[in-house]
This record gives sequence, structure tokens and C-alpha cells, in this order.
Amino acid sequence: MHAIVIEKPGEPEVLSWQEVPDPRPERGEIIINVTASAVNRADLLQRQGLYEPPPGASPYPGLECSGIVGEVGPDVEGFSPGDRVCALLAGGGYAERVAVPWQQVMRVPDRVDPVEAAGLPEVACTVWSNVFMTARLRKGETLLVHGGASGIGTMAIQLAKAFGSHVVVTAGSPEKVARCLELGADEGVDYRAEDFSERVEADVILDIIGGKYLARNVKALKTGGRLVVIGMQGGTKGELDLGALLVKRAAVYGTTLRSRPVDEKGAIVRSVVRDVWPLVDAGVIRPVVHTRVPMSDAAQAHRIVEAGEHVGKVLLTNA
Ligand SMILES: NC(=O)c1ccc[n+]([C@@H]2O[C@H](COP(=O)([O-])OP(=O)(O)OC[C@H]3O[C@@H](n4cnc5c(N)ncnc54)[C@H](OP(=O)(O)O)[C@@H]3O)[C@@H](O)[C@H]2O)c1
Repeated sequence: MHAIVIEKPGEPEVLSWQEVPDPRPERGEIIINVTASAVNRADLLQRQGLYEPPPGASPYPGLECSGIVGEVGPDVEGFSPGDRVCALLAGGGYAERVAVPWQQVMRVPDRVDPVEAAGLPEVACTVWSNVFMTARLRKGETLLVHGGASGIGTMAIQLAKAFGSHVVVTAGSPEKVARCLELGADEGVDYRAEDFSERVEADVILDIIGGKYLARNVKALKTGGRLVVIGMQGGTKGELDLGALLVKRAAVYGTTLRSRPVDEKGAIVRSVVRDVWPLVDAGVIRPVVHTRVPMSDAAQAHRIVEAGEHVGKVLLTNA
């Protein structure tokens, strides 16, 4: 098969489409013939040599895919060759074939295009597990989503609105704020023009910035608020005012999905299929796709994401 190989850490040009050995199904694994994958910000860090794949993961980038089940290994439950699926991966999605534990594989929701399904697993599992399973966002509460126009943000807006929350986003331009409002967000803050913490009060904050926003996020939390940090685009360190946290009886969580054990990912995937997929089947939640790029030209897809002009997902397609 072919896969995108990171020849050495560096610029997008280091991504090269090469012939590599086919994966073989281990116990409990499925081989997916990949229709499409999608770019996640973590892939850019992996390409730059700043994010090692977890032990045992494929060396090729790609945290999600859609495709057709090709082979099933021993002890796989619920899937057969020919099934149309999408999957949460620990790596290896930028390829023609990928091996994945069956627990991380999902049916493609009804009405979703087989290519667009590639952009759902990572955002659905990340948003569902953090905002709903960990932070327990409730109907009527306010969710603040940083980077509302990101892949993660576009899913967070739709899911939180579907569950009856008030959604506020931050985004880097008036145009991106407008796109978030079109997707259902109630309010938007252009973070380049305004400090969100001056006017937002949230029960739950989904944060992708980390250190740079820590103090402002705590300031923006309501009493009983929950801050979930899933990204560190603004650094890993910040000053935490424990006094403010105590007075607000608030909590700060930090999580990552990629390195979790298979059984934890499996529990998230089952919950997503049970609670989120019916909303996708019904057309309440839709994949938000910026563009499609041939997988062999993954370098171009990385340039698009690095330029930061996208809204939603950049997909990588196999012919
Ligand atoms: N922990 C986990 O398990 C996990 C899983 C998935 C993703 N993530 C993290 O989630 C984030 C989003 O991932 P993605 O793949 O969806 O990325 P993406 O589409 O490339 O989006 C990155 C976003 O960051 C926003 N941003 C940059 N600086 C900002 C600031 N100062 N304030 C607010 N927003 C700012 C950008 O907003 P503008 O374009 O509007 O400027 C952009 O929407 C990444 O940090 C990623 O590492 C974490």
C-alpha cells in the first residue's frame, strides 16, 4: 500500500507518498481500506517532530479515517468485511489501509457522505468526551468554545446547541465569528479585537490555548464552572489563582484522547454512537468541511491548515 511518510521533522514538504508494507490484523483489529482521512492540528506537530505517536501506534500520521472494512482479525465483534465505517485512530490514517482495534470503529451515520465521514470521529469523540462526559454540560448552561471555527469548535457549537446550551465562541476575525453564528453559536468574540474575559461568563469552557488563557479562563468561569483544557497553542504554563478557583468552587481538567487505552477510547466511541450519531443521522449535526485534498498531496493540506483560513475540517481523499 501507499502511506504518507514523514521523512524527517520539518515543513510540509517532508510529507511524502511512499510504498510501505501492508498492515496485518492483530487480535481484535480490523483492517480498513481507507476512503479518506482528515488533518488534525496534532498532525502538524507530529510532522514537526514535536509530538511522538504513542507506543505501538503507526508511524504514519492520521488520527481518523473513513472507509470499508477489508479484513477482520480474531476476536473482532460486530464488524464484517464490506462494512462502511469510520474510526478513531492512534495514527496511520494518511494511508490506503490502516489497522485499528474494533472498539474504535463506528458505523458511518446515515446520510453522511463516505468521504465527509472521515472528519467526524476525532471531533465527535473529543467534544463528546470532554464537554459532556467530563465537564457534564447541562441544558441551559453556557459553554464557551475557544477557536469556534476550528474542526473541534464547529462540532462543539453544533453539539452544545443540540443539547440546549447557550454557546459563546472566540474566533480570530469577524468573518469567522459570523460563520460560527451561522452554525448556531449564540454569541461570538473576535479575540484579536476584544478580551473575552471582560464579558463572558461560562459554566463550561472548552479551551485549546492553555497557558496564555488560564487566568482569563478562570476569571470567565461561573460558580461551579468547569474548565477543560485540550490544547496548548498558547503554551503549557500559566498562573492559576487558586483563590479564585476556591471561591467559585470550580474545576480545571486537562485531557488528551490519543494516548488513552483502547478500552477508554472504546467507551467514548460507544457513547458517541449511542448519543451523537442519532443527531447526525437526523441531520441536526453535520460535518463541516473546508476542502478536500488528494491524500498523496497531504503537504498541501497541511499548508492550508497552517495558514489558518479554514473553517471546519480539511479532508484527505484516496482516489
Ligand atoms: N486533547 C485532545 O484530545 C485533543 C483532541 C483534538 C484536538 N485537540 C486540540 O484542539 C485544538 C483544535 O484542533 P483542530 O484540529 O480542530 O485545529 P484547527 O482546525 O487547526 O483550529 C485551530 C484553532 O485555534 C484557534 N486559535 C488560535 N489562536 C487562538 C486564540 N488566541 N484564541 C482563540 N482561538 C485561537 C484558531 O482560531 P482562528 O482561526 O479563528 O484564529 C483555530 O480555529 C488544537 O489545539 C488541538 O491540538 C485536542
